Amino acid sequence: MTDSSTERPPWWKTGVVYQIYPASFKDSNGDGLGDIPGILSKVDYLKELGIDIVWVSPMFDSPQIDMGYDISNYEEVYRPYGTVKDMEDLIEACHKRGIRLILDLVINHTSDQHAWFQESRSSKDNPKRDWYIWKPPRYAEDGTRLPPTNWRSYFSGGTWEYDDDTGEYYLHLFAKEMPDLNWENEELRQAVYSSAMRFWLDKGVDGFRIDCVNMYSKGVEFLDAPIVDERFYEQPAWMFYCNGPRIHEFLREMNEQVLSHYDDAMTVGELPHTPDPKKVLEYVGLRDKQLSMVFQFDVVNIGQGTQLSHKYLFQPWKLPLLKGIVAKWQQFIEGTDGWTTAFCENHDQGRSVSRYASDAPAYRVASAKMLALMMCALTGTLFIYQGQEIGMINVPKNWSITDYKDVESLGFYKSVATSTNNDKEALDYVMRSLQILGRDNARLPMQWDGSAFAGFTERKDGPWMRVHDLYAENNVEKQLDEPDSTFQFWKSMIALRKQHLDVLNFGTFEVFELDNEHTFIFAKKHGLKTAVVALNFTGEDQHVLLPFGGLEFCVGSYGDAAVQDKKEKEGGGRRRTLRPWEGRLYMAGC
Ligand code: GLC
Ligand code: CA
Repeated sequence: MTDSSTERPPWWKTGVVYQIYPASFKDSNGDGLGDIPGILSKVDYLKELGIDIVWVSPMFDSPQIDMGYDISNYEEVYRPYGTVKDMEDLIEACHKRGIRLILDLVINHTSDQHAWFQESRSSKDNPKRDWYIWKPPRYAEDGTRLPPTNWRSYFSGGTWEYDDDTGEYYLHLFAKEMPDLNWENEELRQAVYSSAMRFWLDKGVDGFRIDCVNMYSKGVEFLDAPIVDERFYEQPAWMFYCNGPRIHEFLREMNEQVLSHYDDAMTVGELPHTPDPKKVLEYVGLRDKQLSMVFQFDVVNIGQGTQLSHKYLFQPWKLPLLKGIVAKWQQFIEGTDGWTTAFCENHDQGRSVSRYASDAPAYRVASAKMLALMMCALTGTLFIYQGQEIGMINVPKNWSITDYKDVESLGFYKSVATSTNNDKEALDYVMRSLQILGRDNARLPMQWDGSAFAGFTERKDGPWMRVHDLYAENNVEKQLDEPDSTFQFWKSMIALRKQHLDVLNFGTFEVFELDNEHTFIFAKKHGLKTAVVALNFTGEDQHVLLPFGGLEFCVGSYGDAAVQDKKEKEGGGRRRTLRPWEGRLYMAGC
């Protein structure tokens, strides 16, 4: 339960996690691509920030159709990133500094270059045929060959690829080079447990972020999805493969057979398409022993298009939506033995400053600090994505589609170009949406210093992906030197969170004035302690009324907030004026 867990909480509840995207973090050998020795060279930097857990996104061997989420060998490292020995060194370097390390566990699918799939596709009676999901074609009345279902894949088009040699289709929820594994097959599950999990747990990794964690049980029926978008043959079908009939059985088995044999390993599952808190709780109950926690996606789905349109057709939104979502996913564990996460960025999302606040030159830094204050006051395990700690923002608006690299974004752009015959207005809207929501926004090289290519690489031709135009102004080296930088603010907020774990990391959550479109005020409580957070989500001054008396000013995102607050307190009791994108935190009962 929440209360007893504050006495001696497991390490993964109080640890602050930092996600690293290997391609874009730090290039050590001048080939333009980030790598493991690059990560190793920055472990002290992470320690300085106050990080307890590092999550490394896929660094496994891969043809890189989807930036390593298409794995061709779980037991090898993608050579340009380094070697297994480099990973062993990284694990050791982290552990030496008291930092844990978790890996990405991508086991809904493999690459089509994985030896398992090569065997599986070689003949219908190969012993590994059933390790993937193969189905015979259907035929229309006029004899046209049709895929087994009408499901739409995430990266545009359908989910079935026809294999000429054996006359069957295989399933791929993502790119066609990423065939889905068949979790119904016991032998396959055992192979996953050994190759993808034990291999790395035995080397000392402390757990996993688990990719697409609710997609492994697809049922056995394979029915057509209802037609919601008449324009296409393929239809959204997540209701058929998410949270399927055996998913909890599979996760309990994984826990019992693998994870429970390693001391308190951490798991955080990626849980899309699951808006019902009851359903989410089924994954994260402590006693049920499936997952430590999950990423529920409502907060990062804000502004995305609907199922009917497309996620990359931006929809404007207002602050009450964000407040309601934060409240919902803070509160859903109260009175249960479940656990939650606090995050607003990852490698699949636009940058939080650009999406939820303002990246305009005048407000960029204020926005980043205000969001840092908010995040550090939320209950659950806190996740920071590389660059968030220096307030990196989305790609400039004038970049063209040729500057983008992501398979999902490019796939969508192409499909709109084709279906509208290159309609300028339609494509402009796609570009506008990608500039806000596209995954590439998070994949720009990390901005280390003001030298060429942001100090990310020494390669003369620059890195694999274009560096943000703002790097000379916004980089790590500069921020380490400036006492009031976004980095220093994050660092102090992380320290404050650790000092008040009870109320900040574990407290209950209450939101005030839910309908107010300008400010976000919430309280966290634990025992007799209360924290109140007041945030201005606009570029103008906003007057707010603190919900309680007896609150002491604790920290603010403006350097002079303490002085300002004192003046206001003398003048007006609980009334305060928050300046543009300002955040303040108050406490009582400390
Ligand atoms: C997850 C990953 C994403 C990847 C997909 C397929 O959503 O976060 O980057 O494309 O799974 O593995
Ligand atoms: Ca490199």
